[in-house]
Amino acid sequence: MFKHLKSGTVLVIFLLAGCNVASNEMQALNEDFEKDYQQLQVENLEALPNIEVIDGITYVDDILIVNKEISLPEDYSPGLQPEVIEAYQQMFQDGAAEGLDFVLVSDFRTYDYQAQLYQNYIARDGQEAADQYSAKPGHSEHQTGLAIDVGSSDSLTNLKWEFGDTPEFQWMKDVAHEYGFIIRYLEGKEDITGYMYEPWHLRYVGEEAPAIYESGLTLEEYLGID
Ligand code: DAL
Ligand code: ZN
Repeated sequence: MFKHLKSGTVLVIFLLAGCNVASNEMQALNEDFEKDYQQLQVENLEALPNIEVIDGITYVDDILIVNKEISLPEDYSPGLQPEVIEAYQQMFQDGAAEGLDFVLVSDFRTYDYQAQLYQNYIARDGQEAADQYSAKPGHSEHQTGLAIDVGSSDSLTNLKWEFGDTPEFQWMKDVAHEYGFIIRYLEGKEDITGYMYEPWHLRYVGEEAPAIYESGLTLEEYLGID
């Protein structure tokens, strides 16, 4: 009996000691898990884009966004923005010093004008084709006053892929970001932008342009909203 009791006591002590080791380990594991989990949450928060909608206009990380999903109010009509005018004029001037001849083909467009264009394109090519190259009213970057279409003195290439072969584009593609512009509808990214390649369509994004250019990403991918 005594013998039995003694061995039972030893067993209890052993089990308790075992529990103690196990619970220390559990605590350490829990602390590690909580640390990792918190870190994960912080990283996720940092990775999440900051999306704000102000007066119907959507900003992602302070960059105004318009695309096939995100639209502008019908009455948003800011005109071509002064910083865009300054930037493209400087780029055209620097290009001229390199012997290049840029022309401004298209700039600010109102909602109504975009609606007219879109309807004309549908009448000409049908909606499926028009949707590949024209934004619906309220969905055009031209309505933001932050987008321009650029051409060269070889006007036959205006708004055509052939513009990509002109000396103007060959120079512009590697320097546009220095003026705050990105080529918005990239070749090979049609499934993300929703539009065919447009070497002529520049979007002004300001100081973020070099980082976007270096990334090789579309604006949607860069901002994490693709
Ligand atoms: N061509 C571009 C997508 C526009 O219509 O705004
Ligand atoms: Zn354009």
